[in-house]
Amino acid sequence: MSNKTWSGRFDEPVSELVKQYTGSIDFDKRLAQADIQGSLAHAQMLHEAGILSAQDWADIRRGMAEIQDDIASGSLQWSLDLEDVHMNIERRLTDKIGDAGKRLHTGRSRNDQVATDIRLWLRGEIDLIRNLIRDLQTALAELAAQHADAVMPGFTHLQVAQPVSFGHHLLAYVEMLGRDDERMADCRKRVNRMPLGAAALAGTTFPIQRETTAKLLDFEQICQNSLDAVSDRDFAIEFTAAASLLMIHLSRLSEELIVWMSPRFGFIDLADRFCTGSSIMPQKKNPDVPELVRGKSGRVIGHLTGLLVLMKSQPLAYNKDNQEDKEPLFDTVDTVRDTLRIYADMMRGVTVKRENMRAAVLQGFATATDLADYLVKKGLPFRDSHEVVARAVRHAEQQGCDLADLALETLQSFSDLIAEDVFAVLTPEGSLNARNHLGGTAPEQVRAQAARWLAQLA
Ligand code: ARG
Repeated sequence: MSNKTWSGRFDEPVSELVKQYTGSIDFDKRLAQADIQGSLAHAQMLHEAGILSAQDWADIRRGMAEIQDDIASGSLQWSLDLEDVHMNIERRLTDKIGDAGKRLHTGRSRNDQVATDIRLWLRGEIDLIRNLIRDLQTALAELAAQHADAVMPGFTHLQVAQPVSFGHHLLAYVEMLGRDDERMADCRKRVNRMPLGAAALAGTTFPIQRETTAKLLDFEQICQNSLDAVSDRDFAIEFTAAASLLMIHLSRLSEELIVWMSPRFGFIDLADRFCTGSSIMPQKKNPDVPELVRGKSGRVIGHLTGLLVLMKSQPLAYNKDNQEDKEPLFDTVDTVRDTLRIYADMMRGVTVKRENMRAAVLQGFATATDLADYLVKKGLPFRDSHEVVARAVRHAEQQGCDLADLALETLQSFSDLIAEDVFAVLTPEGSLNARNHLGGTAPEQVRAQAARWLAQLA
C-alpha cells in the first residue's frame, strides 16, 4: 500500500521512478511557511463558517505551531513518498493531532492551495527585491553626486560622441532601476490576488467565506473565476519578465564596468574583493562579478522563456505541467536577489579615475557638436555649420591633434565667424556646462537629479 493521500483508487503504488519524477518536495519545501500560513487562514475561515469545530481549529493551530518548530529545528524529515510540501505538512499535522488534520483539506484542493502558496511567497520576495533595488539606486546616486563634474566621453556606436558627466551616466541606470522598481510594484498588485476557494477547478459545495480568508492572508483581491484561479501562472511570468528587464539593465552596466576597467580605458577600478586573478597570468585582475552578472542575465531570460513555453498549450484548468513553474521562479528570485546585493556593495567600492576620463574626452573630437552649435549661434545654418566642422575635424585628424589644439587662424580658415571665444566651447567642461536644462548633462543638473533621487529613496 502506498502512503499517498490519494492512493485509495489505485491497485498498485507508483513505481520508484515515477515517484521521483513526479515528486516536488525537494524544491517546493521552500513554500512551507506560505503553506502553513494559507492552511491556518483556511482553517480559521472553515471554523468561522461553521464547517470546522472550535476543537478542530484549536488542534490545527497547535499542530501547525509544532510543525513550525520542527522545521526551525530541522527535525522535520521531508518525505518523497508524500510527493510535495502540501501533503508532507498535512500528513505531519495528522500524525500530531489526528482527525482534525484530515479535516483541514475540506473545501480545498492542492490546486488552489499551491497557487495561493506561490503568490504568498512571491509577494514577500517582491518586497525584499524592491528594497534591494532601492539600495542599489542609492549607491549609484551617491556616486553620481560625488562625480557630477567628472567629465568623460559619452559614446554612440561605442565611438566618442560628446562629453558627458560620469554622474549623469550613472543616473541613467538609476532611472532604469526606478522603472524596474515600478514594474515590480505593479506586478505585485496582480500577484496579490487570492486563488483559495477555487478548490480543484469549479469551487466547492461548502459555504466558504473567501473574503474572510483573503483578509486573514492580506490579499488585496480575490480571483473571481475558479478555473482561472487554479490555471494561470501569468503573475509568475510577469514577475520573471520584470526580473529579466532588471537583469538586462544590470548586464548593460556590467558590460560598461568591464570596458571601463580595461587598461585601454582605465576609467574605473573595482575593489579587489569583486575580482579574481588568473592561475597562469600573474598580472591579471579580472572583473568576475560584472561578468557573471552579464552571464546570469541569460539565465533569468531563459527562465522567462521556460515559463512562457510551459504555459502556452495548457488547456484549462490545472495541469501537472504547472509544477514546473517553481524551480525557474525560485532561481529567478535567488539570482536577482544575490545580484542586487552584490551590486550595491560593488558600486560602493568603485574607484573613479577622473583624470583618465578627462584625457579620453580630449581624443575623438568630442566637442565637434559644440563647435557646430557655436557657428549656428553666430548665424550659420546648422547644415552648413556641420559641413564646416567636419572639414575642421578632418584637418585636425591629419595633424594628429584635437580641435582645441588648432590655432585660431587655422580655425578661421574654415569659417570667418570663428573668434577667440571659440575656445570656451571647445573644452570638455564648457561643453558640459552648456547643456544646462532638465535632463541635460551639466553638473548643476546632475547634482539636482542625484539629490532628487536621494531624497526620494531616503
Ligand atoms: N505539487 C503540485 C504543483 O506544484 C501541487 C498541485 C498538485 N495538484 C494535483 N492535482 N496533482 O503544482
